[in-house]
Amino acid sequence: MRIAIIGSGGREHSICQKIYESKKVEKIYCIPGNGGSSQIAENIKINIKNFDEISNFLKNNKIDLTIVGPEEPLVDGIVDYLNDKQIKVFGPDKFCSQLEGSKIFTKKICEIENIPTAKFKILNNIEDSKKYLKNQLYPLVVKADGLAAGKGVYICENFSDAEKAVDEIFEGKFGTAKDLLVEEFLSGEEMSFFILYDNYSFKVFNTAQDHKRVFEGDIGKNTGGMGAYCPSRLRDSELEEKIINKIIKPTLGYLKKQRGTYIGFLYAGLMIKDNEPYLIEYNVRMGDPECQTILPILENDFVDVLNNCMEGKLAKIKLNWKNKKSVCVVLASKGYPDKFEKGIIIENLQDIKISNDQYIFHAGTEIRDNNFYSSGGRVLNIVSLDENFKSARKKSIDLIKKINWKNGHFRKDIGYKVIDN
Ligand code: AMP
Ligand code: GLY
Repeated sequence: MRIAIIGSGGREHSICQKIYESKKVEKIYCIPGNGGSSQIAENIKINIKNFDEISNFLKNNKIDLTIVGPEEPLVDGIVDYLNDKQIKVFGPDKFCSQLEGSKIFTKKICEIENIPTAKFKILNNIEDSKKYLKNQLYPLVVKADGLAAGKGVYICENFSDAEKAVDEIFEGKFGTAKDLLVEEFLSGEEMSFFILYDNYSFKVFNTAQDHKRVFEGDIGKNTGGMGAYCPSRLRDSELEEKIINKIIKPTLGYLKKQRGTYIGFLYAGLMIKDNEPYLIEYNVRMGDPECQTILPILENDFVDVLNNCMEGKLAKIKLNWKNKKSVCVVLASKGYPDKFEKGIIIENLQDIKISNDQYIFHAGTEIRDNNFYSSGGRVLNIVSLDENFKSARKKSIDLIKKINWKNGHFRKDIGYKVIDN
């Protein structure tokens, strides 16, 4: 098969690697890919917003299956666009992608289907928002409605925090904002819960926990993710049943009633409190860096899994997982998520030896004259599998120390909630 992957992060490199390991694959393209994907696939420089150019490429190169990694093209309707041109693509349609593209869309489903979530109020201008927020109890959460690359969420301790959030959202910090959402602050422990869905039946696609803050101890600014571990320590069959019955099934049922078509991953961001799940948000794709921890422990041929999904035959296969713990530590550019330098050589990356239960997934890297250079905030994802989280993390950190990159920053405490020091 000839397969294309759209995206350029660590998630897409890990998808590329898993596909590369399948015997069913003849050729892989990454659009646009990164330095890592260029080692196992052919990178194609097309802007992922340019659906026309992507579709021409896929047609001209007789691609059998295209996988969309990031949310933006999904929310913008790439699946509908390509399907109209008879191109096979793995990902939800534009209607279903509103689950991630509009927090209000999701909240309305929660209301209709009685899905447990934080209480909320929708406001659509500065004046009403501030008037409402003045009389509330804190902490509470203020969110921009649309896609904001994980950054449009403010946890507000008092009215002055909330005022700042309202100003920034309506001043257009996250793109033109028509609405904002005020939410009850949920306390508890977070869990990323994944399913794979073929529009008829679904399978749980493991759980993980990411670490969004830039510094150890979960302090500092929010990032795209500084590391993750899989599985979540909260996973057990009783909780899983509640998540499926109270959250996943009613959501999929609603989408079906509305005639949406959903073939792809669905990622539920949950808060678990007293062993009860609450939905914080949906993402219509795999998580990054969660994907980098989950795919390496999948035992199935991933292309087989995807093909079954495309044919509506997911129910026929059984997913098998290695009985291992998986830890991903992100090596980022110093200064990220604020100002950082790009274009810095990572000198000895080619020479690093890794064992067969370790992976270096690239994110912001590019290759020039046979050398790897940094090209983004999050640069490398160092993933190790082992019998327990502690030894898996140690293996990842030992490996990072061998990478001779002076411009790097990483968190040594990934998984601290599941690792006793
Ligand atoms: P989101 O982009 O909606 O996932 O929000 C980013 C992060 O903000 C989440 O991972 C949570 O840590 C936090 N968060 C969002 N909504 C709430 C809430 N209602 N209560 C507590 N924390 C929240
Ligand atoms: N790990 C968070 C995300 O992918 O949105």
